[in-house]
Amino acid sequence: MAYLFANWKMYLNSAQADALMEDLGQVDLGSVEMAVFPNTLDVRKALGALRGNHIAVGAQNAAWVPQGAYTGATSAQVFADGGCTHVLVGHSERRHIFGENNDDVRKKMEAALDAGLTPVLCIGETKEDMEADKTMYRLKKQLTKALEGLVIPKGKLFVAYEPVWAISGSGNGTPCAPEKAEEVHHAIREEMKGLVNWDVPLLYGGSTNDENVVSYLSLECVDGVLVGRASTTADSLRNLIERMKSVS
Ligand code: PGA
Repeated sequence: MAYLFANWKMYLNSAQADALMEDLGQVDLGSVEMAVFPNTLDVRKALGALRGNHIAVGAQNAAWVPQGAYTGATSAQVFADGGCTHVLVGHSERRHIFGENNDDVRKKMEAALDAGLTPVLCIGETKEDMEADKTMYRLKKQLTKALEGLVIPKGKLFVAYEPVWAISGSGNGTPCAPEKAEEVHHAIREEMKGLVNWDVPLLYGGSTNDENVVSYLSLECVDGVLVGRASTTADSLRNLIERMKSVS
């Protein structure tokens, strides 16, 4: 079994999202466990179109307050009431484009868990961090700030390692060498032992596609992938699923 979490970001217009959901509703997933993160307006449609194929639907971002005078925000509670089960928390684009810091991420983690959502905590170092040999320093800080002291029920958390420089579109789109991904995932797994008392599934993300997905999934510490661009067309998504089925 392997996880495929598809982060559609803001790539698709309404007609494209409809077509992709219709296609995905028909795909044979085999042992691939999938969740889709559409834009907020398409969440309800996704819940209807993907339920039959047992594909979970999550929010790309959620506000930490449940309700109130917060123009433009949608809370974790509202997503949960609407039928979402997952939420991305601390995605690199939220941190680096929208200025969210570790305190914001912590508040979102708490709100997501309070609402009964499963957070997918995204962590990753910048190119500058990497070049200054600060990868683990950055990741430990992100993990500790987000998780320390929280009691998280078994199965209610994923951690996605997404090096900022590896993300296509917002980063440099340089895929992370699988050996490096393994080394970092291993260190994350060790760090997680002091924070959560069960084995949290770890995902890799950053320029993943049908050609390289197997090299990440064969790593011991990688349980699945968080995919952006390559999950946004029917052909590339189907190819990705086929590749994943062949190794999971
Ligand atoms: P990408 O995005 O696969 O397009 O690099 C991954 C992500 O940001 O979640």
